[in-house]
Amino acid sequence: MHILVTGGAGFIGSHIVDYLIENNHSVWIVDKTSSLNLDYTNSKAVYKNIDISSDKLEEIFRENHFDICIHLAAQSSVAGSVKDPLNDAVVNIIGTINVVQLCKKYNCKKIIAASTAAVYGNPKYIPIDENHSTDVLSPYGLSKLTMEKYVQLSGVPYVICRFSNVYGKRQHSLGETGVVSIFSEAMMNNKDIYIDGDGEQSRDFIYVKDIARIIYQLLNNNVKDEIFNVSTNTSYTINELFRIMAKAYSYKKEPLYRVSRAGDIKISQLDNRYLIQKIKSSKFISLEDGINRLKS
Ligand SMILES: NC(=O)c1ccc[n+]([C@@H]2O[C@H](COP(=O)([O-])OP(=O)(O)OC[C@H]3O[C@@H](n4cnc5c(N)ncnc54)[C@H](O)[C@@H]3O)[C@@H](O)[C@H]2O)c1
Repeated sequence: MHILVTGGAGFIGSHIVDYLIENNHSVWIVDKTSSLNLDYTNSKAVYKNIDISSDKLEEIFRENHFDICIHLAAQSSVAGSVKDPLNDAVVNIIGTINVVQLCKKYNCKKIIAASTAAVYGNPKYIPIDENHSTDVLSPYGLSKLTMEKYVQLSGVPYVICRFSNVYGKRQHSLGETGVVSIFSEAMMNNKDIYIDGDGEQSRDFIYVKDIARIIYQLLNNNVKDEIFNVSTNTSYTINELFRIMAKAYSYKKEPLYRVSRAGDIKISQLDNRYLIQKIKSSKFISLEDGINRLKS
């Protein structure tokens, strides 16, 4: 198939692109280049440095036919959205409107769009299933929820994936998005580690290779107009994560605690039973195994 991956030079996108190319699909990447994400772009993909919210995006649709659009390009940080909600909205909402309108105009057969557990807000029950109410706590949660609605209204068959906390190689450790990569970098360099709040906030960690495999399975024609939690349905507190990683990295320092962050969700564990039923596979890489792969 001919597949467009927006944000294909980013952390998750680069793994998805590799997986698609390994499985003999033709891949085009649209991404706004930054110094962070040039290194992992697969040389077998066609790469275009285009902002998804710009008029230039139409060029790539006009010149190619895409069977599928995997839409990952985003302002992907909660803290970034609190600091600059306007930029968050321009990329995540206006950018998405541009992407979906072009998918419609140029007859793309399906959009697979990356959403997030942040759309649910603080859980009313655990694990959170897809029918849980949405009650966002940050501009990022709001822009992603709005993105979902535009995708649903587009008239193009869609699959919306609400990812839990994704980790793995190539995740940058400069922002706040990847606690695993931040800890990993600090542990490798024996630097101090800061935990926001009391460390008892929990997250559902999923290894990025599992994400790539699942997205690949969702290309299947039979899956459309669906919303899935894409998660492991297990949760670890940040203190537990610290201990697992400290053991793997032989890190001896104690963590330092600081004030919690605005918009942070206390507990997150996403029910993945609906996804498992659809893709007929319930195998996930465990957190311990994923940490060991990250180290190697
Ligand atoms: N990493 C996670 O744990 C996680 C969890 C839930 C949802 N998500 C979602 O998954 C997707 C991928 O996340 P990621 O972790 O790989 O983030 P990332 O920041 O590594 O990747 C996002 C990519 O989008 C690109 N981009 C940003 N603005 C753009 C623009 N205006 N035009 C074109 N490209 C632009 C960036 O350059 C980057 O390469 C995002 O939509 C994110 O919101 C990620």
